[in-house]
Amino acid sequence: MPNEPSTAPILIKAENLERAYHTGDDVVYAIKDIDLEIYQGEYISLMGPSGSGKSTFFNMIGALDTPTGGTIAIGGRDLRNLKPSQLAYLRCVNIGYIFQNYNLIEVVSALKNVTLPMRFRGLTEKEAVEKATNLLDSVGLGQRYHHLPGELSGGQQQRVAIARALANDPSLLLADEPTANLDSKTGLQIVELLSQLSDERGVTVVSATHDHNMLAVSDRVVYLRGGEVERVVDREDLDIQVGHIE
Ligand SMILES: Nc1ncnc2c1ncn2[C@@H]1O[C@H](COP(=O)(O)OP(=O)(O)OP(=O)(O)O)[C@@H](O)[C@H]1O
Ligand SMILES: [Mg+2]
Repeated sequence: MPNEPSTAPILIKAENLERAYHTGDDVVYAIKDIDLEIYQGEYISLMGPSGSGKSTFFNMIGALDTPTGGTIAIGGRDLRNLKPSQLAYLRCVNIGYIFQNYNLIEVVSALKNVTLPMRFRGLTEKEAVEKATNLLDSVGLGQRYHHLPGELSGGQQQRVAIARALANDPSLLLADEPTANLDSKTGLQIVELLSQLSDERGVTVVSATHDHNMLAVSDRVVYLRGGEVERVVDREDLDIQVGHIE
C-alpha cells in the first residue's frame, strides 16, 4: 500500500509557484501561488477544467519549464540551483514522462524506444536490451518488441511509453492525461498498470487527468482552478465521491 502522506518523506515541494505568460500588455497567470507537498510513494491526480494549469504545473514539476516566481524542489534540491547538466540528468534518470499522445520515436522499434534512455545513461546494448525486454513484459506488451509504434494500438503504444518512462528506475513518474486518447476499457487497464507500478516499485506518480477511473487509485486528488489549488481531497474522502460518480 502507498505510504501514509504524514510519515513519508517529501519528494516534491512547490512554494508560491507562479508561471506567468506575457502577451503584449496582457499577463496570463497559468499557475499562481501554488503551495503543495507531494510525498514519496504517493499517487496524485491533478484534476481541473481545461486551462486550469495542469500541464503547466506538470511541466514545472518535470523541469521542462521554469517558474516565473516561487520555487520547486525535488528531493530537497531547489531546481533553480541545478546546472543544465544536472537538470538533464534529473530528466533522464530521476523522472519518467508519459504523455497523452505517447511521444514515441516513430522510426524505431518498441524495444529501441525503451533501450535509448538506458544507453544515454551508459548501459551497454546487451544490458539495455535485457532490461527493456523485462520492462516490456511487465507492462504487458506481449511479444511485440520489434514492432514500430505505428504498428501498435494506442493502448500498446502507451504501454511502451510507460516502459520507457521506467527505463532508468525513476523515483517520479509524471503523466499528462495518459488515458485521454484511449477507449474507456483500455484507459482503465493503463490506470491499473500505473497503480500497480506505483505499489510495487514505490514510485511516486503525479498524473494530470480528466479520467474518473484515476480517482479510485489516487492517494490524493489536487483540484486546480484558474491556476490555483482549489482543494486537495484525500483517499478516504475520495472513495465516497467515486461511489457517487459511479
Ligand atoms: N505558451 C503559452 N502562452 C500563453 N498562455 C499560455 C501558454 N501555455 C498555456 N497558457 C495558458 O495557461 C493556462 C493553463 O494552461 P494549461 O495548458 O496548463 O491547462 P490545462 O489544465 O493543462 O488544460 P487542458 O485540460 O486543456 O490540457 C491557459 O489559460 C492557457 O491559455
Ligand atoms: Mg493540459
